Amino acid sequence: MAVGIFDSGLGGLTVLDAVQRRLPDLPLVYLGDNAHAPYGVRDADDVYDLTTTAVDRLFQAGCDLVILACNTASAAALRRMQESWVPANKRVLGVFVPLIEALTERQWGDNSPPREVAVKHVALFATPATVSSRAFQRELAFRAIGVDVEAQACGGVVDAIEDGDLILAEALVRSHVDALRRKMPTPEAAILGCTHYPLMQEVFQDALGANVAVYSQANLVAESLADYLIRHPKMTGPGEVSQFLTTGEPKRVSSRATQFLRRQIIFEAA
Ligand code: DGL
Repeated sequence: MAVGIFDSGLGGLTVLDAVQRRLPDLPLVYLGDNAHAPYGVRDADDVYDLTTTAVDRLFQAGCDLVILACNTASAAALRRMQESWVPANKRVLGVFVPLIEALTERQWGDNSPPREVAVKHVALFATPATVSSRAFQRELAFRAIGVDVEAQACGGVVDAIEDGDLILAEALVRSHVDALRRKMPTPEAAILGCTHYPLMQEVFQDALGANVAVYSQANLVAESLADYLIRHPKMTGPGEVSQFLTTGEPKRVSSRATQFLRRQIIFEAA
């Protein structure tokens, strides 16, 4: 009974960590496609091909349910996968919806018409591919009206985090927040729309100021998964062993993951 968690690289570990805290007995198979990160500068077909290859590997590892803990893959590939690729007995879920449900204060799976919500000015920080897909705005429009979203494509941040260069990542985050503020001087809320960004959450919060509510996905996705598994207990699949798989160099990826999660993580070659 394993659930798969996929990301282009290390960012999905922020989701894995929250899921492990929420569901400590659930075996998880993590796959980081570190050899091909970042996805945020690739086109949609490329992201689709890489994501389907990775998810197929997680199906082979005994997962019937895979979480795309990657906004770029969720934005660029998920709908196409769900419409024409995912086998009938498997499920692939993305990470946007739990975040939007939290922002719009809806219960999981509330399908009522869109309505006015308290937050009117929202800053979205995400990869260039996620921003250009406008998937976040599309999902938000299903649930809320009258929300002004200003998106900032945060070029370079994922690369810096993958390289373990947190000084560069911090400088880039501050300059992206400045750029956002020139377009929207007083956002009420900020969405960290890339699973790598919670690793820099304190910097985002500091640069935005204490009055801006910063939403990140890890805990929201963990809560949403716990709720999903109560409703679909059979989707945990036949796998029983937790594993960390990477398409990159296992030693290098293990050392970065251990640095980020502050506990030993050992990756194997996917
Ligand atoms: N963690 C991925 C996301 O949530 C990063 C994408 C990338 O590789 O650029 O979008």
